[in-house]
Amino acid sequence: MKVIKAKDYNDMSKKAAQIIAAQITLKPDSVLGFATGSSPVGTYQELARKNQAGEIDFSNITTVNLDEYRGLPQEHEQSYINFMNTNLFDHVNIDKANTYLPNGMAEDPEAECARYEALIQELGGIDLQLLGIGHNGHIGFNEPSDRFEKATYCVSLTERTIEANKRFFDSADDVPRQAYTMGIGTIMAAKKIVVVVSGEDKADAVKKCIEGPITPSVQGSILHLHPDVTFICDEAAYSKLK
Ligand code: GLP
Repeated sequence: MKVIKAKDYNDMSKKAAQIIAAQITLKPDSVLGFATGSSPVGTYQELARKNQAGEIDFSNITTVNLDEYRGLPQEHEQSYINFMNTNLFDHVNIDKANTYLPNGMAEDPEAECARYEALIQELGGIDLQLLGIGHNGHIGFNEPSDRFEKATYCVSLTERTIEANKRFFDSADDVPRQAYTMGIGTIMAAKKIVVVVSGEDKADAVKKCIEGPITPSVQGSILHLHPDVTFICDEAAYSKLK
């Protein structure tokens, strides 16, 4: 596990974008796994800037996202598909036909999970997966549990996650109770993983993921077992590490 200390959110975002840009340059038809939340927004801005400056080309890139709320229509402001369009895809030369997320409105959740998992396999797996982490150490929407899930599944969100994400909705009642997420097995099969974390409120989660035991009660702790993980933490997120 590599840990890179960044000065602040901006520096963290630039460093993450540099790693992703290098991936795109070395393999222009990469499959990139993307994440939502506040953590990667700056990374996406920097990637869009690099694309507009002609430094990187998204025309042959395919993307798969970690997760999507169950029950939010695509056009809902807080759907993750809308997040990705607004924060990245609308600003780069990617072919949107090559950008994939779970379908939050699917009628049959089991079939949707199987479809999404099969799609990732058909694409040949993920070359680089970008992650944020939740306050409870979740990655994607893999909430604290007594086990690690192998493949894409439908999960019930914890109160802590609903509380953390209510800032994007009118009230906590409006936050969907369920989501589709890649399983830990799906994420761990990515060839390379980059985690962006910022802010003091994430310092405990970072410490547990990086220094704690591997346990499904802190799902991000599994990253210890991956051969190519880079955490990029700003000073506040890094502050509790030894
Ligand atoms: C969200 C997402 C995760 C994200 C995490 C942290 O609920 N499902 O993929 O990494 O929680 O979000 P943020 O970056 O806004 O703190």
